[in-house]
Amino acid sequence: MVALAHSHLPPQADTAEFEADVVEGLSAGRKRIAAKYFYDGVGSRLFERITELPEYYPTRTEIKILQDHGADIAKLIPAGAALVEFGSGSSKKARIMLAAAPELACYVPVDICGEMIEQEAIDLRVDFPGLKVLPVTADICRPFELPPEAKAAPVRVGFFPGSTIGNFEPHEAASFLRNAAQILGSGALLIVGADLIKSTEVLNAAYNDKAGVTAKFNLNLLTRINRELRGTFKLDTFEHHAFFNRERNRIEMHLASLKRQKVKVAGECFDFRAGETIHTENSYKYSVASLGALARGVGWMPAGAWTDADKYFSIQAFTYAGEPSKP
Ligand code: TRP
Repeated sequence: MVALAHSHLPPQADTAEFEADVVEGLSAGRKRIAAKYFYDGVGSRLFERITELPEYYPTRTEIKILQDHGADIAKLIPAGAALVEFGSGSSKKARIMLAAAPELACYVPVDICGEMIEQEAIDLRVDFPGLKVLPVTADICRPFELPPEAKAAPVRVGFFPGSTIGNFEPHEAASFLRNAAQILGSGALLIVGADLIKSTEVLNAAYNDKAGVTAKFNLNLLTRINRELRGTFKLDTFEHHAFFNRERNRIEMHLASLKRQKVKVAGECFDFRAGETIHTENSYKYSVASLGALARGVGWMPAGAWTDADKYFSIQAFTYAGEPSKP
């Protein structure tokens, strides 16, 4: 799906890099492993199941906002514009935008998983005749070239749903927004889905589902390390920990060792204290104002915001006029 959290690395993508990252992360004072390694085949399927869980409100709430307010959002999109989706995956949410904005000239799904977007493009061309579907395989955090048709469009509209922006550190979110501005150019519009700050109970429940799918998803990382990096993690001695850190407005996901133990990975030995954790993911929560402030800082001006009745999730629009003025 998306190049960061939902990044579908091709299976066995780069074992050497995976190994180096895991060894470095487990050697740190506070152990950590990058969230992109969640998404092997099993991990990607578990993630799909997370989005369907009763406690996991973000996916269905975002879809509802797009369905209810798509026409309104589309009013910001000029005729002939190109829609560029960052981390498009299955394009499920883009389909709602494409239906709401029939005057779009082309749709550019950008994802690190080329196979998935090429396949999806075939279906989209059938369902939206008259729309040019021009997939680009790229890492959304780096500069990439748009297809000529998208560059020639009067305006480019970025689309970044899923609250994936919240899986970046705030400074990384700012550099993502800066990169998006460079790619889309002046006059661009950006439509971002962002999960909102809310009660600790609702947030904690969303990442600690009763069925234990999120726990399985988190622990699958250790299974993957065991398989691909000759790891010796005993799965029943680690536990999924997810909690809302209200000082930093983020859900933290960890894998906690239930006892003092040693684990080998790629021939190296790592000590765990009882209760020591590996930090595997953050999911930052924003308010309309706080994401607006972050965006303004890199030159994106708030142009609209839509939420559900419970104010659980937001779709926010920004416009880019050019470089931010330096104080
Ligand atoms: N970006 C979404 C979120 O943070 C989806 C997501 C990414 C997620 N990684 C996850 C959900 C891990 C649950 C667990 O909520």
